[in-house]
Amino acid sequence: MNTQDYLTLQASEAGPLRILQITDTHLFGDPAKELLGVNTRDSFEAVLKSVKADNQAFDLVVVTGDISQDDSPASYQVFAEAIATLAKPIVWLPGNHDDGLIMPDLLSAEPLSSVDRVLTEHWQLLMLNSQVRGFTFGELAQQQLDFVSESLTEYPDRYTLVFVHHNPVPMGCRWLDQHRMKNGESLLSLLSAAPNARGVVWGHVHQDWQQNRDHLHLIATPSTCIQFKPRSEQFALDKRPPGYRYLTLNPDGQLLTELKRLPDDAFVPDLRAQGY
Ligand SMILES: [Fe+2]
Repeated sequence: MNTQDYLTLQASEAGPLRILQITDTHLFGDPAKELLGVNTRDSFEAVLKSVKADNQAFDLVVVTGDISQDDSPASYQVFAEAIATLAKPIVWLPGNHDDGLIMPDLLSAEPLSSVDRVLTEHWQLLMLNSQVRGFTFGELAQQQLDFVSESLTEYPDRYTLVFVHHNPVPMGCRWLDQHRMKNGESLLSLLSAAPNARGVVWGHVHQDWQQNRDHLHLIATPSTCIQFKPRSEQFALDKRPPGYRYLTLNPDGQLLTELKRLPDDAFVPDLRAQGY
């Protein structure tokens, strides 16, 4: 296990820090298993293939939870082996579907690391744990909020970006919003009060969503498997294909992002599904 509590990345010649975000892989130990008509192992592998074909430079991979659907050690081993082929440092945090207790042992061998902070010359990235064991909704424990406050105080000159699984704000999807981070406003008020905070990036909602609030970017990213239909009252799947995101963090604090998706007909789920 990695005993460091943060990871340091060397700045590449005063250039931007480039991040690949992968989220909600929902892998099973059994390679044949599907989630609502999508083989999640196949869709994850297709995403990795697409990243390699993009041939874009990136310095770090951030995985924002729901790595496993069945909490089996095999599902995490499959994830670790596959994502290691990207040959970049990889950090992760747990989602509501994950077993946060077994993950550190299975996901800490290089190039993976279970640190909760990444430091570069100009930026600090915080990896928060919003999991409430046994529940779908999320909440940040006081210790997590304290970690944000202390990090903002410790490096006031660096730009801070937070990664977490649950959405801290409602998405306008009624069924899904009941499963959001209950105390998201506590997180956002800490960040709003810090001039060098730059935003929050999450998974969980299986859709592309972006808003700005004050000086903060609020960003949700599609899953590598099934997608949820935006602005839906009831549970509904979307036929949009799996996706992933690149984030470019410039030395002057500017944040740029690019969403990528697999081709339109890739991995269409069972659109009649009533829930999962
Ligand atoms: Fe998920």
